[in-house]
Amino acid sequence: MKFEEREFTLKDGRKCILKPTAPEYAAEMIEYLKNTAAETPFLLRNPDEVSFTVEGEKDILGRLYEDPYCIMMMPIVEGKVAGNGSINGIGDKRKIRHRCSLAIALYKEYWGLGIGTAMINYMTELAAQIGWHQVDLEVVAENSQAQALYKKCGFIESGRRHNALRFDDGTYHDEILMYKELEHKV
Ligand SMILES: CC(C)(COP(=O)(O)OP(=O)(O)OC[C@H]1O[C@@H](n2cnc3c(N)ncnc32)[C@H](O)[C@@H]1OP(=O)(O)O)[C@@H](O)C(=O)NCCC(=O)NCCS
Repeated sequence: MKFEEREFTLKDGRKCILKPTAPEYAAEMIEYLKNTAAETPFLLRNPDEVSFTVEGEKDILGRLYEDPYCIMMMPIVEGKVAGNGSINGIGDKRKIRHRCSLAIALYKEYWGLGIGTAMINYMTELAAQIGWHQVDLEVVAENSQAQALYKKCGFIESGRRHNALRFDDGTYHDEILMYKELEHKV
């Protein structure tokens, strides 16, 4: 969806702009998906599972950009893409239509500067405006950095999914389930 750009100052004094992830960023998004998957084991995709073409990715981003129920947010620092975040509905059935799901990942060089906090706060604000009542997410049990971010932004732990992920080294990892209720209720 389209939304207003928002600028804020990072902990190191640089400026960051949060803007919609538009289709012209297709090539940068493919690079981003590959590189972030290689920088952390805590994302769903392995780097070799990123197989989008620029044209294909442009189509996907174009559709998401026009979709009023999909938030795709990109932080830009000194003209460079620092990461991406998204919020999508869980499904169309009436019993689950009040819930959406959040995902976020930044390039490692931008961790710890306050971008995650600013993005989650802005994305959940937009999610409330859209009319969702609750944001859900899953986070790998060992990912303490992300859990600290989510707790700081008001998310509450609600459960644990046993052996949710199997890494290529054969190890299994639980996921922690978290949620945040949104203030604006339709
Ligand atoms: C998780 C992630 C999005 C956090 O974003 P970020 O911009 O680094 O987070 P912030 O700088 O806003 O920090 C938020 C809070 O996280 C905590 N935090 C930050 N760095 C941390 C670290 N190295 N270890 C533990 N907690 C940390 C602090 O509580 C911080 O709050 P504070 O600023 O009041 O001290 C980012 O590290 C990332 O992209 N990681 C890899 C991908 C990933 O794990 N995504 C989540 C999948 S569920």
